[in-house]
Amino acid sequence: MAVDRDAAGREWHLRNGRLSHLLRVLENGWLGSLHLGAPLAPGRSYRHLGVDPFPGFADQVGTPVGLVLPVPGRGDFRMPALVVELADGSTVLDPRVVGHRIVAGKPELPGLPSTYTEDPAEAETLVVTLRDEPSGVEVDVRTTLFRDVAAIARSLEIRNAGERPVVVRTAMSASVDLPDDDWWLVTFSGTWARERHPAASPLVPGRRSVGSLRGATGHEHNPFVILRRPETDETHGEALALSLVYSGNFLAEAEVDPYGTTRARIGIHPDGFAWALAPGGTFTTPEAVIAWSGAGLGELSHVLHELYGRRLARGPWRDRPRPILLNNWEATYFAFDEAKLLEIAAASRDLGVELLVLDDGWFGKRDDDTSSLGDWFVDRAKLPNGIDGLARAVEALGLRFGLWIEPEMVNERSELYRAHPDWVIGVPGRERTTSRHQLMLDLSRSEVVDHLEGVLAELLDSAPISYVKWDFNRFMTEPYSVALPPGRQGEFAHRYALGLYDLYRRLTTRFPDVLFESCAGGGGRFDPGLLAFAPQAWTSDDTDAVERLRIQWGSSFGYPISSMGAHVSAVPNHQVGRVTPLATRGAVAFFGAFGYELDPTRLTDDERAEVRAQIAWYRERRELLQFGRFLRLRDPFAGDGNEAAWMSIAPAGDHAVVGWYRILARPVPQRDRLRLRGLDPDADYAISVWPSPDGARGSEPDPVVLGGDELMAVGLPIEPPAPFAPLPAGDAIARLFELRRR
Ligand code: DGJ
Repeated sequence: MAVDRDAAGREWHLRNGRLSHLLRVLENGWLGSLHLGAPLAPGRSYRHLGVDPFPGFADQVGTPVGLVLPVPGRGDFRMPALVVELADGSTVLDPRVVGHRIVAGKPELPGLPSTYTEDPAEAETLVVTLRDEPSGVEVDVRTTLFRDVAAIARSLEIRNAGERPVVVRTAMSASVDLPDDDWWLVTFSGTWARERHPAASPLVPGRRSVGSLRGATGHEHNPFVILRRPETDETHGEALALSLVYSGNFLAEAEVDPYGTTRARIGIHPDGFAWALAPGGTFTTPEAVIAWSGAGLGELSHVLHELYGRRLARGPWRDRPRPILLNNWEATYFAFDEAKLLEIAAASRDLGVELLVLDDGWFGKRDDDTSSLGDWFVDRAKLPNGIDGLARAVEALGLRFGLWIEPEMVNERSELYRAHPDWVIGVPGRERTTSRHQLMLDLSRSEVVDHLEGVLAELLDSAPISYVKWDFNRFMTEPYSVALPPGRQGEFAHRYALGLYDLYRRLTTRFPDVLFESCAGGGGRFDPGLLAFAPQAWTSDDTDAVERLRIQWGSSFGYPISSMGAHVSAVPNHQVGRVTPLATRGAVAFFGAFGYELDPTRLTDDERAEVRAQIAWYRERRELLQFGRFLRLRDPFAGDGNEAAWMSIAPAGDHAVVGWYRILARPVPQRDRLRLRGLDPDADYAISVWPSPDGARGSEPDPVVLGGDELMAVGLPIEPPAPFAPLPAGDAIARLFELRRR
């Protein structure tokens, strides 16, 4: 890893053998971007990759110059990265490089989540300072190069070093110029209960964007997009990921210009955004992570899994195997009492569950979703011994105890609202739009954050609570804070995000051993920003095994498997009404932070035995499944979408679990071999199948032995089944294959 600077002091080459990024001070003083992608040899000048020389746009307006910080009004007519309205109302800037420094490691971003290093030797950060002389606006462009992954992190610090106030109107975290337009844009889009379905389309002239103006990242789009070559697949070809470490309004956008170049940008959504900077003021953008792969999408995901799993997620739970939990939501909804919960806990314990999570409905007088959000004290009618009494009773049974909260919200029917009606988001004198009967608290106000920290810390101190599910069930409307002056309302949505991070930081710092799981009506805020505090997230409210194949497949492009809460639920499934075999539900949820979302007291004896076996099986393999290298093998969105397959393999390549799934049964089996990846071609692998077909080949005492070379080049026999036991009949079937190197 190195940040090289050429002899003339005009060109920087950030290189780590996995990717190269080349920056150059252009002749007009602007910061040019010559290259971001494949690793290039050190010691050469790459000046010719840019427009050379570039004295400015005089008589060549519109020329596609590769820039790091494009601004409007000076001849670059593509999307800007930075728009600042100056005191005279103009937005014309001339940001020239005035200095640079190279820092070992990676500085923190004030108030914002970001990737980090544990040792300064893991990264180097190049900070290039640009200045617009007439206004005094200065920008530090910070680029961190990681030693061990093909990724850089970028953020801007914008300073008003002038004498008059300015307003930042657009501040994208990263803008990437690519020299051609032969790219497809892949977004991860959907809605509630079908989040993060990959959607790909070729770039054409003009812009294509996804984003959110919901005050949160949302179910609809994710702050993560991929640019890939048309021919790129899981194992071959070039791809570039842009990911934003942020949980609020965002924009990710790609533009092809008339010259056939591409500009991509990602950052806070500029719509409605305006940040006032008085003289001396600074604004720091969230961090964008840009990852590159020359070996397909599988490698690109691996880069993000490593970086986000190991250097974005924090705290003791980052590397710890995650507990197998049972959540009571779909078991009882709001209708429970202590006796019922202890019955569930006892039944869970007998199955091998490790953590009981009490979901919504334990506080205030909340028997449905019309009241009590904000009143984070126990409902003694349901739980006469309080949370403490319940948690201790659960612990006495041998389980840990976890609790649901939704701190950012309030119902009008609550004590909190009656005491502080002015704490909610809304425009005075205007109707406020409720959603799920609730309003949002104004987390841009420190007194609101202080209050929430106080009541939640008291709650967490009051009982042995090992896990917290932090929910968020509506999006922001009437964005406005009574605490901000009229001219500063454009800051509100971002200030909300900062308040949210502040609250998360205070609580996770104070309770480092508590495992936090984020949630937003399922996966409505499944983003890198929250991953920095909560190392796992509830992936989707949709627990149907078939839908989950698609949701977990899509989520795996940008997020580690350990971050995806995945539960087995009852059938008919509560979201789609589908009936799938228990084994299939398990086989899908195993590829995640595993748990159950059902009433264990209502299982039949056979089901109980099956669940017990699932838990025992998962427990022995959970480190592999949660932290192994995840490889996508068969795409549930491809062709007729009837099959899916993926695998997790241990770093040493000696142990792997392959998951294979078929949605609708087919009458005449096609010959089918599933080609695996990542194995040792010279090794033999003993293969057993799950669920175990007693006595048949492929059961544990009688594994099938095949060579790594054959498994990768010819494939694992799925059908006809020989040498394995026949596949089960019916729809929605699954089979897991466990491989151990001999
Ligand atoms: C939405 C979550 O996604 C569910 O899992 C559950 O916690 C409900 N909210 C509770 O209101």
